[in-house]
Amino acid sequence: MKKTVLIVYAQPEPSSLTRHLVHQGIELLQKRGHDVLTSDLYAMNWKAVYDADDFPERADVRRLSFIDESRHAHKNGFQTPDVVAEQNKLLAADAVILKFPLWWFSMPAIMKGWVERVYAYNFAYGYQDAGNAFRYGDGILKGKRAMLSVMCGGPAEDYSLRGINGPLDELLFPITHGILFYPGMDVLPTFAIYGTGRLDAAGLEAAEKGWRARLERLFEDKPIAFRRQNGGDFPDRHILADNIAPGRIGIAAHIAE
Ligand SMILES: Cc1cc2nc3c(=O)[nH]c(=O)nc-3n(C[C@H](O)[C@H](O)[C@H](O)COP(=O)(O)O)c2cc1C
Repeated sequence: MKKTVLIVYAQPEPSSLTRHLVHQGIELLQKRGHDVLTSDLYAMNWKAVYDADDFPERADVRRLSFIDESRHAHKNGFQTPDVVAEQNKLLAADAVILKFPLWWFSMPAIMKGWVERVYAYNFAYGYQDAGNAFRYGDGILKGKRAMLSVMCGGPAEDYSLRGINGPLDELLFPITHGILFYPGMDVLPTFAIYGTGRLDAAGLEAAEKGWRARLERLFEDKPIAFRRQNGGDFPDRHILADNIAPGRIGIAAHIAE
């Protein structure tokens, strides 16, 4: 069935692996009959810094409360057009892919700035002005799929379970769980390429093949089993029930067996 896929990416260099795989991905998805929306953040000259310019019509000019101003702007139609355009792309998408080179164990600043500015109050948080009622599995983006596609300079061993950098899935938890799952999306396992600086022709071919395979299964692969806030595991919406994953702590406790 025809779907709409949004790819948000952050790498300006034409010869980068990020852009190479974005172009291949667009081609593949379109060939399969899907609509592809893109946000090429560097080409858009995306304003990365969340500041007072995001609120041209202030609720309170004396003190800049980002949350109060975001609520005011979202409710009254005062959001900036670039933010509204990105929110509309998110709403139109059936799947959202964030594609970036790993920079200091996270997304490049321009993409973090996309999240900070686009994820408005009553949109990605404070949904329906209902405090924390809708989050982690529920929210405005519920029913959509999401996936990270991350290019890592370091070798796979460094990101393995006992690797020196820490496991990639744990490093990216703030994004998969905190940014994608929070407003309700089903998050697929991350697609990662390691050792990007040392890729030979065979490595590149394997990377392209792996990427194509993941895109072909974008609407079939099983999401990460993050525990939903409103699914019963968090009776008070804050802390896991004692009988859920007893003895497990930290990030591991967030994933259902
Ligand atoms: C500012 C900066 C920070 C980086 N931080 C990391 C890092 O934390 N871990 C890592 O494995 N590689 C890191 N790298 C290497 C990039 O991940 C690597 O250049 C990228 O995977 C290449 O893909 P690209 O061609 O799409 O940019 C960093 C590179 C830059 C420029």
